Amino acid sequence: MALLKRKKSKTDISELNIPKHIGIIMDGNGRWAKKRHMPRSAGHNQGGKVFRKIARYCSDIGVKYLTVYAFSTENWKRPQEEIDALMKLFKEYLDEALRDFKDDSIVVRFIGDKSPFDKELQELMIENEEGSKDRDGMVLNIAMNYGSRDEIVRAVKGISENVKNGIIDIDSIDETMVSEYLYTANQPDPDLIIRPSGEYRISNFLLWQCAYSEFVIMNTLWPDFSTDDLDEAIRIFNNRNRRFGGV
Ligand code: IPE
Ligand code: IPE
Ligand code: MG
Repeated sequence: MALLKRKKSKTDISELNIPKHIGIIMDGNGRWAKKRHMPRSAGHNQGGKVFRKIARYCSDIGVKYLTVYAFSTENWKRPQEEIDALMKLFKEYLDEALRDFKDDSIVVRFIGDKSPFDKELQELMIENEEGSKDRDGMVLNIAMNYGSRDEIVRAVKGISENVKNGIIDIDSIDETMVSEYLYTANQPDPDLIIRPSGEYRISNFLLWQCAYSEFVIMNTLWPDFSTDDLDEAIRIFNNRNRRFGGV
């Protein structure tokens, strides 16, 4: 039955235009746990499992780039207990689950500033990037300690530094160059950004890159998010009329 269901949704999806780059704001873990009278960390745990399933599914259906928002520059404001649980979960995932992605030839990249994470976590992140960089499948960007304003400030600093050193001429600064100084350098902008849990905001995710992304807000909480929800978001995307400022 489960197999039949998966097959059916795959057939449907194969008739659609699959977005080249999808961004997902994996939100709603805390509310999912609260509804079940469980600690917020239980929601993050379940959210981690869903992340694993959805990433592999995106790779299966031919998505070329998937960017998932796992931890923002603002999430450090949370209670220490929750941060500790999240860091523990990240370590477990990097240690075990990301190995799964090997079968799917997924290239794992982390976007965001790694420096505030502890040494063990930073090393695991680098190991995963190094170990997967020669694969030829979907690029999975995991946004950890990511904030788009911080990303833009870094780009401005990087460009300024090179102007000061005489490497860049001010007149040569253009939109392409700015994009090249972001964490997502050399990647296409997201076509579709999905936010589960019903919040209508971007929360500092891919501010520069989302200039012409299609947004799909879904009420499902991330730990309940299924491949059918992803198919539904792609169906909605297929019904949008993208004009990019034209007619
Ligand atoms: C998203 O779920 C996960 C992270 C931000 C790390 P939340 O923890 O924000 O869940 P809600 O929004 O409180 O339900
Ligand atoms: C955005 O969700 C960040 C992640 C999903 C990692 P938040 O839960 O932090 O966003 P706000 O606080 O609702 O805007
Ligand atoms: Mg949230």
